[in-house]
Amino acid sequence: MSQQVYNFGAGPAMLPAEVMQQIQQELLDYRGMGVSVIEISHRCAEFDEILTSAQRLFRELTGLPDNYRILFMHGGARMQFSALPLNLAGRVASRKALYCETGSFAKIAAQDASLFAAVKTISSSAESGYDHIPQLPGELIEQDAAYLHITSNNTLYGTRWNQFPDAGDVPLVADMTSELLSRQIDFSKFGVVFAGLQKNLGPAGMAMVIVREDLLEHAGDQVPPLLNYKRCAKDNSLTNTTNTFAIYAIRLALEWLKKQGGIAAIEKRNDEKAARLYNLIDSSGFYRGVAQPEHRATMNVTFRLPSEELEKRFVSAAEAAGLYALAGHRSVGGIRASIYNPMPVSGVEALAGFMEEFAKNYG
Ligand SMILES: Cc1ncc(COP(=O)(O)O)c(C=O)c1O
Repeated sequence: MSQQVYNFGAGPAMLPAEVMQQIQQELLDYRGMGVSVIEISHRCAEFDEILTSAQRLFRELTGLPDNYRILFMHGGARMQFSALPLNLAGRVASRKALYCETGSFAKIAAQDASLFAAVKTISSSAESGYDHIPQLPGELIEQDAAYLHITSNNTLYGTRWNQFPDAGDVPLVADMTSELLSRQIDFSKFGVVFAGLQKNLGPAGMAMVIVREDLLEHAGDQVPPLLNYKRCAKDNSLTNTTNTFAIYAIRLALEWLKKQGGIAAIEKRNDEKAARLYNLIDSSGFYRGVAQPEHRATMNVTFRLPSEELEKRFVSAAEAAGLYALAGHRSVGGIRASIYNPMPVSGVEALAGFMEEFAKNYG
């Protein structure tokens, strides 16, 4: 399959070309069944094989400890903003849930949770336009809280937590929507990790939820069945008809990741791709990075040009050159290059070449 354009969109984002090709080849006839994967029962043996091999591959690639369950839940990442307090704060007397506001999704997560828990925002970088991850001294993490929520990678601003907080006995929860599987993570530090699938893994609309088994007992009495971690774990994510196509796509994305050499290899490649762009930005005298250097993400590279006028020109000229979806989020402006796992080095090189040329012409 020839690459027509490089897609730098933040999500839904590009999938590996090999994965898209395999989906195309198998779409009308899933492995000799004579029907499509979107037409088969979520309870048939063939789908069971897809689901269990996706879970097995995830465990194998991440080294996930045995006392964690892998759930596939509906409603994308945002549904988890409500599911979390319902599942984790239900039986804790304080009903307290701690949040770090490092961007818009972190803020929305706290707002959504405040319907179901006593939300306390204990750190924020809002005042500097979310350009860094704020300090989080241990004394701010009140030990009677039901959980501490962080957004590990802030998609709009291009920042990420490079060191995770030590929350003591408070379960640490991370929204890893825009970085799951992009770097090695010690999952044993977390109570819950969740991610919408539409960045590194597959189609939008579902979330992967990794939950430590003991926390399955923390849910309140009135959690809707489809949001209930314990129920979902008991039913192995098949409480109702699941999105068979999305889970099939994840399985292919995980197989692709394994072929790339696993997470250590993809992390190295991601570091190199991001460094190529950040080095160019820092040495250009024309582009200006948005995130403070020590908090920069490898997945979303954000930068500004000398004027908004030039930014508009940059985005449209890039698109004409086959570099798609480089405009920053509508609430933030500027330029954002989302370079998730599937973005090949050639795409980053094409963007770097374009940036050098543009700076020469307009700098
Ligand atoms: C960090 C983060 N959290 C949550 C979301 C919301 O995801 P969804 O649209 O799947 O609900 C996004 C979407 O881009 C995101 O980047």
